Amino acid sequence: MSTEKSIVICMGSSCFARGNKKNLALIEDFLETRNLSASIRLEGSHCASQCQSGPNIRIDGTLYQYVDTGMLLDILEKHFSVAAKE
Ligand code: FES
Repeated sequence: MSTEKSIVICMGSSCFARGNKKNLALIEDFLETRNLSASIRLEGSHCASQCQSGPNIRIDGTLYQYVDTGMLLDILEKHFSVAAKE
């Protein structure tokens, strides 16, 4: 029951400018094409003062840093590929 799926993407200006703008588009596309929009909560966060290691994205509680679109797709697949059933 405590396994709520969530993606928290830093929307602070540094992370956003350095890649989370593209990352956000990729996440939205990923969720939409796999019909996951209803089962995974996507939200933005404010700057967490870790800009130097950004872009930062937290998925199911795990913080990923220096995220680019290539690795993001792998991360999403890893976390959510089995969640695509419903
Ligand atoms: S803008 Fe993301 S940690 Fe500062």
